[in-house]
Amino acid sequence: MLDGRNIILGISGGIAAYKAAGWIRDLKREGAEVTVIMTRSATEFIAPLTCSALSGNRVHRDMFAREAAHEIPHINLAANADLIIIAPATANTIARLAHGMADDLLCAVVLAARCPVIVCPAMNDKMYRHPATRDNLATIGSRGTIVVDPGEGSLACRGNGPGRLPEFVEVREFVLAALSNQDLAGVKIMVTAGPTVEPLDQVRFLGNRATGRMGYAIAATARRRGADVTLISGPTSLAPPTGVNIVNVSTALEMRHAVMAGINEAEVVVKAAAVSDFRPAVSVDGKIKKAASGLDLQLTANPDILMELGRIKGKAEKPLLIGFAAEAGEKLGEGQRKLKEKNCDMMVVNNISDPDAGFAGESNRVVILYRNGGEERLPLLKKDEVADRIWDRIVRLRRRE
Ligand code: C5P
Repeated sequence: MLDGRNIILGISGGIAAYKAAGWIRDLKREGAEVTVIMTRSATEFIAPLTCSALSGNRVHRDMFAREAAHEIPHINLAANADLIIIAPATANTIARLAHGMADDLLCAVVLAARCPVIVCPAMNDKMYRHPATRDNLATIGSRGTIVVDPGEGSLACRGNGPGRLPEFVEVREFVLAALSNQDLAGVKIMVTAGPTVEPLDQVRFLGNRATGRMGYAIAATARRRGADVTLISGPTSLAPPTGVNIVNVSTALEMRHAVMAGINEAEVVVKAAAVSDFRPAVSVDGKIKKAASGLDLQLTANPDILMELGRIKGKAEKPLLIGFAAEAGEKLGEGQRKLKEKNCDMMVVNNISDPDAGFAGESNRVVILYRNGGEERLPLLKKDEVADRIWDRIVRLRRRE
């Protein structure tokens, strides 16, 4: 997700500096070009050699180091950066940032840069809670610096409380958001995801193989692009995306209720959930007994939520309605029929018989169908990338391009 992005990792001198070595690897694994700047005290905690070996680049420490006589390191570094992350950020470095000081290379680069800056405070809990640190964090936050709250727990200084440097995975969404175009800033979006499960009794249910991955990717990428996202999710094993309002539901009727409760506010609705078309006519209290004669199941049709939304929308422009159609085989005609029948603006069709485009995988291959009969075939992509392409198209629909 970070292919070709130039990221400066600023390491200041706290015990958590050793964790920054792992962050360098994580950033590189995502495709970023990483340049490390260390404060003098950071070098007491972790060797510059470790950081240069892991990043594959020279580590910068000295304001006055010159490779060529005309080179001004802090200006060059600042000009080339897409993002600066300071992890760990000590109370001292945060104070110097808050006061606009430029007496070491890291603070000078931050002053000279115009790219986003993410600061990850990590320190003793009392230092973190001190009013001076609180004020300094509020000051840099008010100027647009993204401050990631530290984790809570036992600290290396034997304290207990807030002050731990999070793992990179916990900060990843902030990084992706900082590098994303904010073309959905403030847009209210509803996404449904996952399967619905329909109880037969207290033990058994009818379900389907949807994992929720595609819908969660749709929600996470919209959030990164600045949207205000509500994710209505059937049961999945996925962690809710950072910054998304999650509403957990189980059955199609519960999903319908949650959708209808939020529909007046939504500007865009993406229905990626695999809603059960049927539910058992009766759900038995307790457990249905085993019987040698077998069991006849009576099923009742569930409401088609998207169809209802299409009816409510009628000829109005809002909300934009985007449906998903999972078909066995490439049935674009079927997708077009559903698009019309459910009054959608876009229908995303995937062929579940295609081994690359099934429910559980990390990737998907989809065809996007439009109201005007147009169709657009996307290549095989990671689900996050499919989601981003779908948002690119939705942004264009919103601008009526
Ligand atoms: O007709 P089909 O179920 O294939 O259509 C799929 C689309 O309709 C998906 O966007 C799905 O979320 C939505 N749907 C729904 N309510 C149902 C069945 C499907 O909203 N009961």
